[in-house]
Amino acid sequence: MAKRVAVIGAGVSGLSSIKCCLDENLEPTCFERSDDFGGLWKFTEDSKDGMTRVYRTLVTNVCKEMSCYSDFPFQEDYPNFMRHEKFWDYLQEFVERFDLLKYIRFKTTVCSVTKRPDFSETGQWDVVTETEGKQDRAVFDAVMVCTGHFLSPHLPLESFPGIHNFKGRILHSQEYKSPEGFQGKRVLVIGLGNTGGDIAVELGRTAAQVLLSTRTGTWVISRSSDRGYPFNMMITRRCYTFINQLLPPCFINWIQERQMSKRLNHEIYGLSITKGKKKKFIVNDELPTCILCGLVTMKTGVKGFTETSAIFEDGTVEADIDIVIFTTGYIFSFPFLEEPLQSLCRKKIFLHKWVFPSSLERATLAIIGLISLKGSILSGTELQARWATRVFKGLCKIPPPQKLMAEVTKKEELIQRGVIADVTQDKLDYILYLDELAVCIGAKPSLPLLLLRDPRLAWEVFFGPCTPYQYRLVGPGRWEGARNAILTQWDRTLKPLKTRVPPDTPKPASTSHCLRAWGGPVLLASLLLIYKSSLSKWMQDRLSPQLGLCFGCAPWSSW
Ligand SMILES: Cc1cc2nc3c(=O)[nH]c(=O)nc-3n(C[C@H](O)[C@H](O)[C@H](O)COP(=O)(O)OP(=O)(O)OC[C@H]3O[C@@H](n4cnc5c(N)ncnc54)[C@H](O)[C@@H]3O)c2cc1C
Ligand SMILES: NC(=O)c1ccc[n+]([C@@H]2O[C@H](COP(=O)([O-])OP(=O)(O)OC[C@H]3O[C@@H](n4cnc5c(N)ncnc54)[C@H](OP(=O)(O)O)[C@@H]3O)[C@@H](O)[C@H]2O)c1
Repeated sequence: MAKRVAVIGAGVSGLSSIKCCLDENLEPTCFERSDDFGGLWKFTEDSKDGMTRVYRTLVTNVCKEMSCYSDFPFQEDYPNFMRHEKFWDYLQEFVERFDLLKYIRFKTTVCSVTKRPDFSETGQWDVVTETEGKQDRAVFDAVMVCTGHFLSPHLPLESFPGIHNFKGRILHSQEYKSPEGFQGKRVLVIGLGNTGGDIAVELGRTAAQVLLSTRTGTWVISRSSDRGYPFNMMITRRCYTFINQLLPPCFINWIQERQMSKRLNHEIYGLSITKGKKKKFIVNDELPTCILCGLVTMKTGVKGFTETSAIFEDGTVEADIDIVIFTTGYIFSFPFLEEPLQSLCRKKIFLHKWVFPSSLERATLAIIGLISLKGSILSGTELQARWATRVFKGLCKIPPPQKLMAEVTKKEELIQRGVIADVTQDKLDYILYLDELAVCIGAKPSLPLLLLRDPRLAWEVFFGPCTPYQYRLVGPGRWEGARNAILTQWDRTLKPLKTRVPPDTPKPASTSHCLRAWGGPVLLASLLLIYKSSLSKWMQDRLSPQLGLCFGCAPWSSW
């Protein structure tokens, strides 16, 4: 009999989890508390239901070829970066194509997930749900928690002395939908993540003045890279990951800072990262211009508030503030899990490969989507779900809880003593993380084999963008269309741009396009291959501990 799996949440992660269950002949039932799928991508005019969702003008920040389900490319005429409505349309097409709707129970909230008394033998869970006031209980063989990273707003009011005396309006970005109501106001935006950047830019065009306060600063990158190609497709490549693992971190840092400063002198724009703080990146095409035009004014962190003013850490005071918007991010939680599992899952360090709680004697509960990646979360959650479903079926094994817990406890101790860095809040390297999961299920393409069998494809896989289709070339879940999807990824990228082709334009020569897009990486990788063969042993012996650190900071994997 097929194993019954409860999938909690029908966002991007929930949808891929349902499909992965079906691919593995498991029996999914998805519970979604709202009345539609798509999670935060389902726009609503207000936020009365308390759900975190996109705002009206949100545009994706990872391009379509790097941000699709691995066996379901976007239609070729979709723009590379798209408004949220288009992205939701894509999710709808996915749901229709794989007939997922019938597995989702809408308006059904999962209230509790508890181990059955015989859990240590069966691994089963009692799941209590509520649909329009009526409770229901069912037994499941496994549970996939897909409730997202953004369950409730992080509103750190206690860090801002005097905020309770402030007479103006205070809101969190979760409430923000559009610039309506902000016309003519003096607005202070606190927090410079992607949301802070977007909202500051949008209000810069409507409000009387926008002040953008940041404690740390950030690198600002654009959606397009040199020559206008989508940024993610240019930097997320195996050849760069390969190089990244070879070079010393100080050298990579140096290149990175040079590249970032070449595009924009962050210091003169008030954006540069405070010394000693962790590097971070946002994607924003307009923020520098808005600062240049005086539509947005950069400010340091806020020290405190009076009834109408904000006092900043550099001693400056801004009077007559009408509205303060906290774009200070979100917190996640799993209120339906029992203790101590609930508290354990809130510490990412306790999740084996960011998916399985280390303490469980049966690996029948997986957290899908609790990752920050330097790239699309969608591709990461899909591979997590592919792996989790195979673990549920017993086709992939994970180490026993005693071993995992011992490892975590040791790691925690080393972090506390300052021996190793706590990287649980950092964004994971996209290729390294996806490869790690792909290895678990046997879906990582082998480059030497590929080179022998299909050199053209091998070339594209190594030097081209690491699109999600690469994880459908081999192993379980292999997709016949993967090869073609990889070889045509640039066609789909360029197609939506070909809306005006002047009659006298020469046909684009594919070779010259390839040279432009790949010339740099090919040359670099070739040089480094030679370099590696002579120096790899030396590097292994002396530099390997440091190399681990550089994954997070190479320019080519910096998103
Ligand atoms: C404003 C914003 C913009 C973003 N833009 C991008 C982008 O451009 N590119 C990118 O790659 N990533 C982006 N992200 C990251 C985003 O996290 C992922 O793209 C993705 O949407 C995450 O999907 P998810 O399914 O994990 O979570 P969510 O979309 O949050 O879905 C979780 C679902 O679980 C349901 N749920 C929660 N609790 C329960 C319960 N107890 N019972 C039943 N159902 C429940 C919710 O109703 C919801 O539908 C963005 C995030 C935000 C906040
Ligand atoms: N598609 C898109 O374009 C898009 C748009 C928006 C969001 N997103 C995604 O949505 C997710 C959430 O983004 P987000 O920007 O809302 O949150 P976020 O990435 O967590 O950033 C929040 C920022 O708030 C500031 N902050 C946090 N705690 C603070 C405190 N106690 N006091 C003062 N400042 C504090 C920090 O910036 P400082 O320290 O620098 O001040 C931090 O970077 C991310 O995954 C993001 O990529 C995507």
